[in-house]
Amino acid sequence: MSEKTVTVSDDTTGNKVQLALHEGTHGAPCFDIGSLHEGLGYFTYDPGYVCTASCSSAITYIDGDEGILLYRGYPIEQLAEKSSYLEVCYLLLYGELPDQRQKEEFEYIISNHTMVNEGVRRFYEGFRYDAHPMAILVSTIGALSAFYHDSLDITNPRHREISAFRLIAKMPTIAADSYKYSLGQPFIYPLNALGYVENFLRMMFAVPAEGYQPNPTFVRALEIIFILHADHEQNASTSTVRLASSSGANPFASIAAGIASLWGPAHGGANEAVIQMLEEMLNSGVSLEDYIARAKDKDDSFRLMGFGHRVYKNYDPRAKIIRQVCNDLLDELGAENQPLFELARRLEQIALEDDYFIEKRLYPNVDFYSGIILRAMGIPLNMFTVIFAMARTVGWIAHWMEMMVDPELRIGRPRQLYTGKGQRDYPE
Ligand code: CMC
Repeated sequence: MSEKTVTVSDDTTGNKVQLALHEGTHGAPCFDIGSLHEGLGYFTYDPGYVCTASCSSAITYIDGDEGILLYRGYPIEQLAEKSSYLEVCYLLLYGELPDQRQKEEFEYIISNHTMVNEGVRRFYEGFRYDAHPMAILVSTIGALSAFYHDSLDITNPRHREISAFRLIAKMPTIAADSYKYSLGQPFIYPLNALGYVENFLRMMFAVPAEGYQPNPTFVRALEIIFILHADHEQNASTSTVRLASSSGANPFASIAAGIASLWGPAHGGANEAVIQMLEEMLNSGVSLEDYIARAKDKDDSFRLMGFGHRVYKNYDPRAKIIRQVCNDLLDELGAENQPLFELARRLEQIALEDDYFIEKRLYPNVDFYSGIILRAMGIPLNMFTVIFAMARTVGWIAHWMEMMVDPELRIGRPRQLYTGKGQRDYPE
C-alpha cells in the first residue's frame, strides 16, 4: 500500500487532522480514519458499510461500475471457462493457480477428508424430520468444533490448514446428509474416486438400492455455479466470518456464523426466494405487470428477488456467465417452454427494459439465474442456499486464513451513534 495523506478540517472549530490515504492495487483509495476521534473527536457513521473498507485483502477484487470480478487477479470469465472448482479453491487459499502436481495433491487431500465422524451423523437425529437443510447445516458446521478439536489451535499454521481442508471436504457430505435426513433416507457415504461435484450429486440422489449416474451437463453447470460463488470479497457472510473470528473463535464456529448470515433472502437465500416468487406469480392469478408495479411502490415491501446488488451497478459479471449456462441448459433439456422458465424470461425482459430498474441500475443478479438452473436440474428448493454455502466455504476460509496472519488484526468492534435516553436517575 502506498502512503499519502489528506487533511480533514473541522469548519466549526478550525481543528485539523492528517489522515493516511491507502492506495490498493485497484479501486478507490481509503482514508485511514483511525486517528479521527483522537484528532477531531468524531466517529464516522456508515450504516450498512456503504463506504467503509473494514480490512485490506489480497484475495478478490470487484469493480461494480465496470462489472469486473477478479480472484487473485484472474478474471472470473477465464476461471469459469478454464478451471475446475478445486483449482479455484487452491487459487483462493494459496494465491496462485496450482501446477499439475499441486492440483493432484490438493484433489487427493480434499477427497481424503470427505468422511465425517459417525458421531456427527447421530447428531442429526435431534432434528425434526422436516428441518430445513440450512438449519441442519448451520448447526452441524458449528458442532464440528466438538469433533475435530485436535486441530483448533488457530495460532498453528498446520492446524489452520487442516481445518480448511476439513471444511471444504466435509461440506458436501454434510450438505447431502442434511437433505437425506429431511427425506428420511439413509445417508450415502462419499466415493473418493469421484470429483467434488459428482460426489455431492451422488450423495444427494443415490440410494443404497440404486446407484446414480450424474449427468455431465449438470456436473459442469454446477461446477460453474461453484466457481462463480467461491468468493466475493467483504460481503455480509464473509464480513460475519471475519468479525466472529476476530475474537479468536475457532474456524468451525466462525464459518457457522457465516452460514447464518448467508441464509437471509437479501444474500444467499435469494436463489430460493427467486423460485418461491416465480411460483407465487404463476399461481396467484396476478399479472406480472402488477408485481412490477408493487416492486416500484415505496409503500410496498415487495422486491423482485434476484434483482439488484449493493456493489454491481452496471451488470453482475457472474450473471452474464451464468445466464448463458442457464439458457444452454434450458435449451438442452427442452424446458424453455415450461411455464416457470417462460415466466422468468418475461420477467427478465420486462425488468431490463423498465425505466425504474434501469434508473436504479437493478439488473438480474447471479441468484436469479442460479435459482433457475438448480430448479431445471431437479435440485430441491430447500437445498439452493446450501449449495451457495458449499461453494462459498472456500472464500470464507481464505479470508479467515488471510486474517489470521494479518499484522493489523484486532478484535472487530464498531462504534455507534447513541440515540437513546439521556442519563437519568432511577425513580425514588
Ligand atoms: N426490487 C425492487 N426494488 C429494489 C430492489 C429489488 N430487488 N433492490 C433494490 N431496490 C430499490 C430499493 O427500493 C431502493 O429504492 P429507493 O432508492 O427508492 O429507496 C434502491 O433500489 C436501492 O436499494 P437498497 O436496498 O438501498 O440497495 P442495497 O444495496 O442496500 O441492497 C440488495 C442490495 C441486493 C440487498 C437489494 O437489491 C435486494 O434486496 N435485492 C433482492 C434480493 C437479492 O436478489 N439478493 C441477492 C444479491 S446477489 C447474491 C449475494 O450477494 O448474496
